[in-house]
Amino acid sequence: MAGNITLTMIKPDAVEKNLTGAILAKINEAGFRIKAMKYLQLTESQAGQFYAVHRERPFYNSLVEFMSSGPIVAALLEKEYAVADFRELIGATNPANAAPGTIRALFAESLQRNAVHGSDSDENAILESDFFFSQLERF
Ligand code: RTP
Ligand code: MG
Repeated sequence: MAGNITLTMIKPDAVEKNLTGAILAKINEAGFRIKAMKYLQLTESQAGQFYAVHRERPFYNSLVEFMSSGPIVAALLEKEYAVADFRELIGATNPANAAPGTIRALFAESLQRNAVHGSDSDENAILESDFFFSQLERF
């Protein structure tokens, strides 16, 4: 079924603050099923590749440095309307603008250190899932 997966990362700020369990609980409570998951630290090169779409943006170098600064949890999530529903669950990019109760409102500290990533389209959900997970790692 098209449109039923999204890719998330629990970013280095949230992992460092021991928020992994709390964030995964919110994800499960919202009806997402974990199809694949891993705990790893991206190299600068890998973080740069993942966020290559932002290559020309002024925050790109800082984003790559942050995303490779410590371990992350990457997870492939399944739910009907996964991309849209997950973006709603995490809230706006800047936690100052995130709706109350969203993951970023609850756990993010700043525009950059914003606790979680969520895919922005079905197409990118597939590309990002392939970045992290082989078919043998999906259940
Ligand atoms: P993400 O891709 O991580 O889920 O975040 P997003 O779609 O809500 O936001 P996006 O525009 O894709 O930006 C990617 C990440 O870059 C950092 N950022 N910094 N300093 C800045 O102006 C700025 N803007 C964005 C954030 O970590 C953002 O999540
Ligand atoms: Mg994005």
